[in-house]
Amino acid sequence: MSNERPFSPRVLCIYGSPRVRGNTDLLLDAFADGVEEAGGLAERVYLRNLTISPCREIYACKTQGACALKDDMQPLYGSLREADAIALASPVMFYGVSAHAKAFIDRCQAFWCLKYLRGERISRSRLAERKGVFLSVGGSKGRSIFDGPLLTFRYFLDALDATPWKSLTYREIDAKDDISGHPTALAEARALGAELVAAVRADLEGEGAAA
Ligand SMILES: Cc1cc2nc3c(=O)[nH]c(=O)nc-3n(C[C@H](O)[C@H](O)[C@H](O)COP(=O)(O)O)c2cc1C
Repeated sequence: MSNERPFSPRVLCIYGSPRVRGNTDLLLDAFADGVEEAGGLAERVYLRNLTISPCREIYACKTQGACALKDDMQPLYGSLREADAIALASPVMFYGVSAHAKAFIDRCQAFWCLKYLRGERISRSRLAERKGVFLSVGGSKGRSIFDGPLLTFRYFLDALDATPWKSLTYREIDAKDDISGHPTALAEARALGAELVAAVRADLEGEGAAA
């Protein structure tokens, strides 16, 4: 029997809604609680409280290897590299993610350049492959409302050496606290947080066994 303490994965939890304690906030809170209850570390980032300029296409990331815009995105580059898993919560806005989330994602073009033009590894996690979780709601019942956000999320993760693992999406969630009236959503989000920690630990064990 091993006396080693189980690995505590660092899960970066990114709150993408402009609305304080809105639906995706509550979903991500439940998810982050699940992460912590299972022994993971949830690092919570509230994009609405930060100053993150949209990408300005200066391409210092291409020529100098780093984004030249000195704002609140700078410390997040380190957090994005260090995380063992990444969770993003955003409402659907005009069939995309929120403007806060999109500005943040576009600034990850700096990673895209490092990865695809310079051949650098972005992740500093012990894991070979990192998992991403997307949590979202939309006010309407439109069949394709999550198509755009899920595609954006996939390619955001790709720039970070990560892949989509699971997502939770809920339609007809519109007023501020609608998600609290949903019969299963918050419990599902909490369970997913715990499931992620178990899956990351299993990945690490599998990689150790394969090494
Ligand atoms: C600017 C804006 C654009 C929106 N666009 C869509 C949309 O394209 N499809 C949809 O189903 N809901 C849309 N909604 C509704 C939001 O997705 C919905 O109100 C959601 O519950 C907000 O989540 P939050 O409380 O986490 O901010 C939009 C809301 C806003 C404010």
